[in-house]
Formats: sequence, C-alpha cells, structure tokens
Amino acid sequence: MRFANKVAVVTGAARGIGKACATRLFDEGASVVLADIDADVLAATAREFGSPDRVHATVTDVSSKAQVDALVAEAVAVFGGIDIMVNNAGIAMMQNLLDITEADYDAVLSVNLKGPFLGVQAAGRQMIAQGRGGVIINMSSINSRLSNPRVTTYAISKGGLNQLTGTASIAFAPHGIRVCGVGPGTIMTAMVDGSFISNDDERRMVLSRTPAGRYGTPEEVAAVVAFLASDDASYMSGQTVYPDGGRLILNYTVPVED
Ligand code: NAI
Repeated sequence: MRFANKVAVVTGAARGIGKACATRLFDEGASVVLADIDADVLAATAREFGSPDRVHATVTDVSSKAQVDALVAEAVAVFGGIDIMVNNAGIAMMQNLLDITEADYDAVLSVNLKGPFLGVQAAGRQMIAQGRGGVIINMSSINSRLSNPRVTTYAISKGGLNQLTGTASIAFAPHGIRVCGVGPGTIMTAMVDGSFISNDDERRMVLSRTPAGRYGTPEEVAAVVAFLASDDASYMSGQTVYPDGGRLILNYTVPVED
C-alpha cells in the first residue's frame, strides 16, 4: 500500500493506459480522481472501482485551463489535497505531413502538450501551497524520440512534453516535487487498435522494431507510473523512462513470428 493516504489525479482515466494507472494507484491505497472528456465511459469506469469513498470522477477537457484548474480544485475539495498528478490524456492523428491542417495541429498540441502544461501548473501550484511535496508524471511516448512522419503532430507534442518534464522538474525541485515522464512503446489500446495498427503489415512493421516480440499492456505502463510516483523513486526527477520492450535501443529489426 505505497499510496495509503495519498490523493492521485489521472487524466484520460476512462480507458486504456490512464485507467490502468488509476487502478494501480487505487489498488495500492490512493484515493483517485478520474478525469476524462468522455462522460459515458468515465462513468462506467468509475462504477467498476466499486469503492466510492476513494474514487471520484469528473468530466474534464485537459485542453481548457478553466477545466484543469477546476479538476485540481475538485481533488482538494473532495479528498483534501493532491499528491500525484498523472497527465495522461492524449490523442493521435495519422496523416501525411503535408495534409495536416492548422486545426489538426491545434487539436493534437492542445490535448497532448498544452493539457499537461496546464496540469503541471495547476498541480504544481497546489502542491507548493500544501508544502508536502508531490509527484507529477507526464505520459510521453517513444515518438518523443523517434521520428515518424505519419504522426508528425503527435511526435512534436511528445517531444515538447519531454522538455516540459525537464523544465518543471527543475522549477519544482526546491519544493520537493518530482516531475517524471513515461514513454511507452506500442501498447494495445483503443488509440492503437485500428489506427496505428490496422492490418497485418503494420503489425509486422511494429513488431520487427520490438525486441520483446509483443505489444505492451496498459498494466505494464501503470507499474512504471506507480514506481515513479512512489518513494522507491525518491531520487528520480526530470527524466522520461521508456517501457517499450527494447524498442528505442534497437538498431535494424528483429524477426517477426507469423
Ligand atoms: P486511449 O485512446 O485508449 O485513451 C485516451 C483517453 O484520453 C480516452 O479515454 C479519451 O477520452 C481521453 N481524452 C482524449 N482527449 C481528452 C481531453 N481533451 N481531455 C481529457 N481526456 C481526453 O489512449 P491510450 O493508448 O490509453 O493513451 C494514453 C496516453 O498514453 C496518451 O497520452 C498516449 O499518447 C500515450 N501513449 C500511448 C501509447 C500506446 O501505444 N497506446 C504509446 C505511447 C504513449
């Protein structure tokens, strides 16, 4: 129960990696605030937790400063403070670079980069006021480091996110607040299924770049988030770490099973 008496806010918590992060933090004792823009799935997910006194769900669009500020204020109102902020909500668009419109660019950057920026500010202000430290985790991606022109806006947003993690970690270090990033490889969620990977050729392409020989699971990402959020990682800040099945370190490709 590493997170007994801790309060965690997780954005994009209705499904996928965010849901797994919230579940892991909850299972280890945290009170969790689940935030997502999808009201219906969020409500269904909140019901799955089955312990209303330690779970609170609130519909939030992370690209809105007013809504992110309100989210943190709600965590304080309901649970008395905030100790862990997981800026996880994200979207991806697959397009050729020259097809990206200004609206597409704004949409992806607003959720994936401005959203965590607003989350860092809101959580940071509250944690500093509380005076008991805290941990902020930003959900990055291997695409913060690898260049793939099919997901240009996504890659730009995640590259910027790593810099947010670094700069915020230094700004908040005097307050005992750690800021870390987690950059997963390919995890089979709604974001990936049917978009990043929509046929067998794409499966083979991704797995030929994945030494582990399989996709990761949301729970494997959540385990890393829980480690970084815990005192086991008390001397880690500013870095983005990569649960990626060996993807980033690989040169060339590996054989793929049929
Ligand atoms: P997902 O699509 O399964 O879930 C994302 C959740 O974020 C959804 O519930 C969605 O409603 C919510 N969301 C979207 N826009 C929002 C907004 N404006 N405000 C609040 N919530 C919003 O995606 P997945 O795979 O769970 O991704 C979660 C995070 O992990 C994202 O930041 C993604 O970029 C990152 N990631 C995912 C990888 C993967 O292979 N699935 C790999 C690397 C990073």
